Amino acid sequence: MVADEKNVLSSIVSSQHDFHRPYGGVVPEVAARQHIRLIGPIIQEALDDAKVSLSQISGVAVTTEPGLIGSLLVGVSTAKGLCLGCGLPLVAVNHLLAHLQSVFMSFEDVPLPHVNLLVSGGHTILFLVNAPGEASVLGSTLDDAAGEAVDKAANLLGLGYPGGPAMDSLADEGDPSAFRFPRPMARRKGYDFSFSGLKTALAVYLQKYGPPESAQHVKDIAASYLEAVVDVLVQKTLHAAHATGVDAVGVTGGVAANRRLRHRMSDACGNAGLALLIPKASYCTDNAAMVASLGAIYLDAGRNDGLHIDARASSRLPRWEVVEKTQP
Ligand code: KG4
Ligand code: ZN
Repeated sequence: MVADEKNVLSSIVSSQHDFHRPYGGVVPEVAARQHIRLIGPIIQEALDDAKVSLSQISGVAVTTEPGLIGSLLVGVSTAKGLCLGCGLPLVAVNHLLAHLQSVFMSFEDVPLPHVNLLVSGGHTILFLVNAPGEASVLGSTLDDAAGEAVDKAANLLGLGYPGGPAMDSLADEGDPSAFRFPRPMARRKGYDFSFSGLKTALAVYLQKYGPPESAQHVKDIAASYLEAVVDVLVQKTLHAAHATGVDAVGVTGGVAANRRLRHRMSDACGNAGLALLIPKASYCTDNAAMVASLGAIYLDAGRNDGLHIDARASSRLPRWEVVEKTQP
């Protein structure tokens, strides 16, 4: 629930990790069924927390794309019901643009355009952000997302699901140079990523040498693996910032919580004279406030997408081809 694009009145996040943990990843059917069960009580909790009644709401924003179609359909159908019942305008929000919005929510003066690295369990995308709700894709992962690669490594190391936070903590006490994992696509031109080979490299390592021999060995593997992921993310982001001539870099998505990524990105941006904009962790991970914030901008502009909007599994944002000048 937001009062306007910057003022969040309530933000309720209902985690489904416990339901998906036994399967080692998100099961779409389970996710959709949990959405049905939880969405009503969550809306009520968001109203209660904000001390707002339904009659005071001036519009509804809903994520329509991209994502798991079953879960999106639950949200879109519920939002349509709310708008029909209460006579409210309804605006469709792209989930990726909502992630980018978390920067505008969190910082007063956001330099434009800026480059934003969106890194989550489902996405690894470099954007050129022109304004709230307006961004082009510079590059994205060709296979696994960075968070997915970290979760798969955690799974191979027996660290449970989702393994990102555990990898982060272990890596803190490990040696990032203990093992040399590949840096996929790091030297290739352009801004696309690929992380599936990195996971395979760890699987092959564990097959060859067997399970880690000690707690320190696990920490060293976690640190070295994360270092490979972070190296590629930082390198490509800095190249993109340089090639587009921006003054600022944003990082969003669940992986933005990673301490090593924050630290390395901060150093790299500091050295390059770039401002670094990373929202607080609760606005980096999936949350409704970022969707409502972008929705508030659409509603303020008089937009009403009406009851015919549809959920879509994929989204088509414009792609921006950078004219390369200096990238090796
Ligand atoms: O944005 P998010 O909450 O959900 C989506 O994937 O849409 O991101 C979750 C991802 C998971 O892969 C999780 O393991 C990863 O973010 N993650 C982390 C950390 N916290 C969450 N990865 C590395 N270090 C962390 N501290
Ligand atoms: Zn997300």
